[in-house]
Amino acid sequence: MLTFESISKTQEFSLSLRRKGIKIALVPTMGFLHEGHMSLVKMARMHADFVMLSIFVNPTQFGPNEDFSKYPRDFEGDSELCLKHGVDLIFHPDADEMYPDLSSTWVEETILSKPLCGKSRPTHFRGVCTVVVKLFNATLPDIAIFGEKDYQQAAVIKRMVRDLNFPVKILSVPIVREHDGLAMSSRNKYLSPDERQNALAICKSLDEARKMAMEGELSSSLLAETVKLRISQAGGNIDYIEIVNSETLLPEESVSKNSLIAVAAYFGGTRLIDNCFLIHKNIEY
Ligand code: PAF
Repeated sequence: MLTFESISKTQEFSLSLRRKGIKIALVPTMGFLHEGHMSLVKMARMHADFVMLSIFVNPTQFGPNEDFSKYPRDFEGDSELCLKHGVDLIFHPDADEMYPDLSSTWVEETILSKPLCGKSRPTHFRGVCTVVVKLFNATLPDIAIFGEKDYQQAAVIKRMVRDLNFPVKILSVPIVREHDGLAMSSRNKYLSPDERQNALAICKSLDEARKMAMEGELSSSLLAETVKLRISQAGGNIDYIEIVNSETLLPEESVSKNSLIAVAAYFGGTRLIDNCFLIHKNIEY
């Protein structure tokens, strides 16, 4: 397994692979890898000949009072996991390599970025789009893989790729959950044992709403209220609970087969997100 830190070296290497007709997949990450990321690697291996995984904690997608400086990092552990799962190359640039002095260019998607996480994190998706474009330009992938826990992120990136005609196919992979249903996230590490237990209210209440919808309860406000109550009862501080159309991300008053329920809530100081389709047979874990 190779590890590159330089953009020019990575570009050169990718170009040489592409000239030989080798298909490249990129799995962009911020590190502190877990089984959720490895499901992206697995998908990448299924669809490409050469798997690159980037590890870069991107400062521009964090707001001023967010967890950039304390975001968990473990390059050694990440490398071991990558090696075990057949990653061919880790791209691991530092912040100066990615954002040289006087960087003043942004990539911004302006519609799908606005609701849900975009309301409480107004500059987040601009940071994500900008860094993803830079990662694409460094690694020159044929395909790139994103997780559906960050459903809105995957939707924003698909739109950006379409709008800007990037020759990169975007694939998304379903949420990977812990044995008890908690959606896997690098941020779960921040949770105390009590907070972790209480945070199960998120996936359990989403599952309750899904079952209610499957049994015919189609009022979005009632379903959202149920989830809100359960999460509040468990001590969670809600950022948003919304039922939206999975393509437009606009709110839906009444549930349809395209309805997605999306949640962001704090347990202690940790902001967790999760989502599920409402007309769907189960939440798998
Ligand atoms: O999902 C993430 O880990 C990040 O938002 C991404 C896509 C790697 C961009 O920094």
